Amino acid sequence: MKIVTIVGARPQFVKAAAVSRAIGLWNINAAGTGGKAIEEILVHTGQHYDASLSQVFFDELEIPTPRYHLEIGSLPHGAQTGRMLAAIEPLLVEEHPDTVLVYGDTNSTLAGALAAKKLNIALAHVEAGLRSFNRRMPEEINRVLTDRISDALLCPTTAAVTNLRREGIQKGVEQVGDVMYDASLFYRKRARDTSRVLERLELETGRFVLATVHRAENTDDPVRLTHILSSLAKVAKDLPVVLALHPRTRKLIAQHDLSARLGRVQVIDPVAYLDMIRLEESARVIVTDSGGVQKEAYFFRVPCVTLRQETEWVETVESGWNRLTGADPALICSALREAQAPNATRVEFYGDGDAAGKIVKYLSGYSFAARAPQRSSAN
Ligand code: UD1
Ligand code: UDP
Repeated sequence: MKIVTIVGARPQFVKAAAVSRAIGLWNINAAGTGGKAIEEILVHTGQHYDASLSQVFFDELEIPTPRYHLEIGSLPHGAQTGRMLAAIEPLLVEEHPDTVLVYGDTNSTLAGALAAKKLNIALAHVEAGLRSFNRRMPEEINRVLTDRISDALLCPTTAAVTNLRREGIQKGVEQVGDVMYDASLFYRKRARDTSRVLERLELETGRFVLATVHRAENTDDPVRLTHILSSLAKVAKDLPVVLALHPRTRKLIAQHDLSARLGRVQVIDPVAYLDMIRLEESARVIVTDSGGVQKEAYFFRVPCVTLRQETEWVETVESGWNRLTGADPALICSALREAQAPNATRVEFYGDGDAAGKIVKYLSGYSFAARAPQRSSAN
C-alpha cells in the first residue's frame, strides 16, 4: 500500500513524526509476520521554509526526508494554495498512491486534499472535525472544506466527532486520539535528558511564563498585537516571560514599530521541538494562540491562557485548564496572574498515546480498491 503524506507547516511536522514512526513500526511487524508493508512518500510543500520552522523538526524528530520538496514559500492565501495544488497534482499522477494523508488545517492541508480528490484518490484527514465556528479564520475554511471531501476522518476528540455528526458527516469517521499527544509522550523523556534550554535561558522550573503568538487575527491587527505585547510586558515586571516568536509576528512587530512595547519580555527565536516541550512542561503558565501549544499545556498539566475568543480544543476550557481572553489586556493579565491547576479529576481527552498506531491500522484495513487514482485529462 502506498501513502502520499502532504506536510508544509511546523505543527504538521510534529504530527507526521508520530504517524511516520507508527508506519515504521507497522512495517517491522509486517516483515516479521508476512503482512503487507506500507510505503510512505513525504511531500513538503515549502509553506514553512526557515530552518527553525522546518528542518530542525526533520532532524530532531527523525522524520523521513521528503521525496518531493515543492518550495512554494510565502504567498497570499489563494496564490499559495493554488500553486501547491498545481504542484501536487502531477506528483500524485506520477506516484499513483492508494491514499493521500493530510494533517490539520493549513493551506498545505487544503491543497493536498483538493489535489487528491480531483484525481479521485482516497483522502485521509488527521485532526478531522475540529471547529472554531469562526469563518473569518483561514484555518476554519481549510478544515471545513477538507472534512467535506475526506474519505477517512480521523478525529482526535469526542467534540470533533460530534461536530462532524452535526454537519451530517458520519461515514469514515473514526475517533483515534491525538497524534500530538503521542509525540509529547514519546519525546518528553528525550527532552528532559537532552534539552538545555532552561539553563541557556536561565529559567527556573515553575517560575516563568511561556508565550507564543502567531495567529493572523492577533498579528495582522496592530491594536490587538499592541494589547497582547503590552500585557505580556506588564506581567514580565513580576515574573519572567519568554516569548518564542514566530517570524510572522517578528516582522509585524518591526513593521508597526512595537518592540518598545515588549518591556522586559525575553524574546527568542522559535525553538526546536524538544526545547519547546521542555519549556512547556517547566512553565508556570503558558499564554498562546497556537492550537498545538494549548493542547501541549494540557498534556503537561500546565495552566493555559489563550489569546483568542474561541478554541477548537473546547475540552481544555471546560475542564478548567485553559482560559480564553482574546486580546483584552485586563483579562490577559488577570488570567496569567490567577492561573492555577483546577482541582477536578483529569480526563484523558486525547486518547491513550497511540493515536498514530490506530491511524495506521485503520488506513491499512481500509479498502481503496474501488478508488484507484485516475490520470488527469491533461495527461
Ligand atoms: C500557518 C498556518 C497556521 C498554523 C501555522 C503554524 C495557514 C493559513 N496558516 O500560519 O494555521 O497555525 O502555520 O505555525 O496555513 N514566514 C517566515 N518563514 C517561514 C514561514 C513563514 O518568515 O518559514 C513568514 C512570512 O512572512 C509569511 C508569514 O510568516 O508571510 C506567514 O506564514 P504562513 O505560512 O502563510 O502562515 P503562518 O502564520 O505560519
Ligand atoms: N513549537 C516549537 N517551537 C516553537 C513554537 C512551537 O517546536 O517555538 C511546536 C509546539 O510545541 C507544537 C507546534 O509547534 O508542537 C505548534 O505549532 P504552531 O503553534 O506553529 O501551530 P498551530 O498548532 O497553532 O497550528
